[in-house]
Amino acid sequence: MLKDQLTVTDNRTGRTFELPVTDGTVRAMDFRQMKVSDDDFGLMVYDPAATNTVSCRSAITYIDGDRGILEYRGYPIEQLAEGGTFLEIAYLLTYGELPTRAQLEEWTREITFHTYVHENIKKFMEGFQHDAHPMGMLVGTVAALSTFYPDAKRVDDSESREKQTQRLIAKMPTIAAFAYRHSLGLPYVYPDNELSYAGNFLSMLWKMAEPKYEPDPVLERAIDVLFILHADHEQNCSTNAMRAVGSSRVDPFSATAAAAAALYGPLHGGANEAVLRMLTEIGDKKRVPEFVKRFKAGEGRLMGFGHRVYKNYDPRAKIVKETADAVFEVTGRNPLLDIALELERIALEDEYFIERKLYPNVDFYSGIIYQAMGFPVEMFPVLFAIPRTAGWLAQWREMVQDPEQKIARPRQVYVGPRRRKVVPIARRNAKRRQAA
Ligand code: ACO
Repeated sequence: MLKDQLTVTDNRTGRTFELPVTDGTVRAMDFRQMKVSDDDFGLMVYDPAATNTVSCRSAITYIDGDRGILEYRGYPIEQLAEGGTFLEIAYLLTYGELPTRAQLEEWTREITFHTYVHENIKKFMEGFQHDAHPMGMLVGTVAALSTFYPDAKRVDDSESREKQTQRLIAKMPTIAAFAYRHSLGLPYVYPDNELSYAGNFLSMLWKMAEPKYEPDPVLERAIDVLFILHADHEQNCSTNAMRAVGSSRVDPFSATAAAAAALYGPLHGGANEAVLRMLTEIGDKKRVPEFVKRFKAGEGRLMGFGHRVYKNYDPRAKIVKETADAVFEVTGRNPLLDIALELERIALEDEYFIERKLYPNVDFYSGIIYQAMGFPVEMFPVLFAIPRTAGWLAQWREMVQDPEQKIARPRQVYVGPRRRKVVPIARRNAKRRQAA
């Protein structure tokens, strides 16, 4: 009879072990019993970049990369993006169920109540250089928030977790918009709590002398949809940072700053900027075949194509593409779109891309939309961080309540020298410094 077990024979000792297999995983700690001698520490698993390591059990986001499926709490992303609003989806991620109308109204009221930041936060942001990168400002300011809310240290208190969740989701757009206005040398615009989450964000970005900013409904909806699509993506680099840093029981503002710092990196939050640079370099539809040839020869990569998890069309990319059409009706067509469409058409017919299961990912079209809306590329990771905050917090809440979790602390294989004798400084021979 077949059993949910893995039989491992350790050929160093000849011993055989039966390891239970649960949910398609074996426990790394079960390997520790495999030793070659009594003082052996025990066998460990080596997995740089954790590409095949499950670090948690989670009930938030489900991805089937081969089939191009993304679900939040069991609901397909296509359905959520079609009818939902970002705050509704943030509620779903946070609490596990879609809200009723009354629950959504209450949640919206709670979030709206926290949109303002302390005046000293405003002053803090004014201290940045005039050309400070808005993502650097966001990372620093979110970290600074922890000093304003000492009650956030009580991470085991569910009331405190509620409060900090609401504060962070509410204040992220305010800080993001202040960072944007700072880079333009424009006065900061305070939140308008009569507007929607996305509408208020647009007001804080673009309001000038008019007494009340009226967001364009198409752009407001486009921002909302893009926020929904970026709200969570299970154990990606920044979420892993949120969980790892949060596992030290630090307050969620500090952990969110760490997650945002991870998102600042070009391999994570910067891919759509790379797509724009690539499309600009191609410059003309006619040059697409020549560039595709170069990508196939390994001269650079087709940015916005391929994904560590998706080996099919990224379901978010389809929705972004539809959103692009609506946005261009308002903003006028971004000329880079034609190059992108041609690139997608040619790549999807090409053996190289078919064989390797390389399809457009969410970033292939998002940058083109943001650029058409008037955002500079420096704002792209900031636009990503606002909605992802809801995902980070949902993951953090799950982590702090998970009895199996402890402080995240991987092991290492030590490969440096051992047991050297310290030579007094006067007798040391100069050795080259190792370049980092
Ligand atoms: N263009 C051309 N070839 C590619 C591309 C690409 N975009 N992506 C992968 N390949 C090729 C690789 O050269 C490799 O070919 P080989 O087997 O002949 O050596 C094969 O496909 C597998 O590639 P890996 O690097 O092993 O795939 P991995 O899963 O590690 O990489 C990644 C995923 C990093 C996203 C990659 O596809 C890539 O660099 N894409 C472009 C950057 C990008 O769009 N990043 C955004 C990701 S989405 C996000 O972060 C929100």
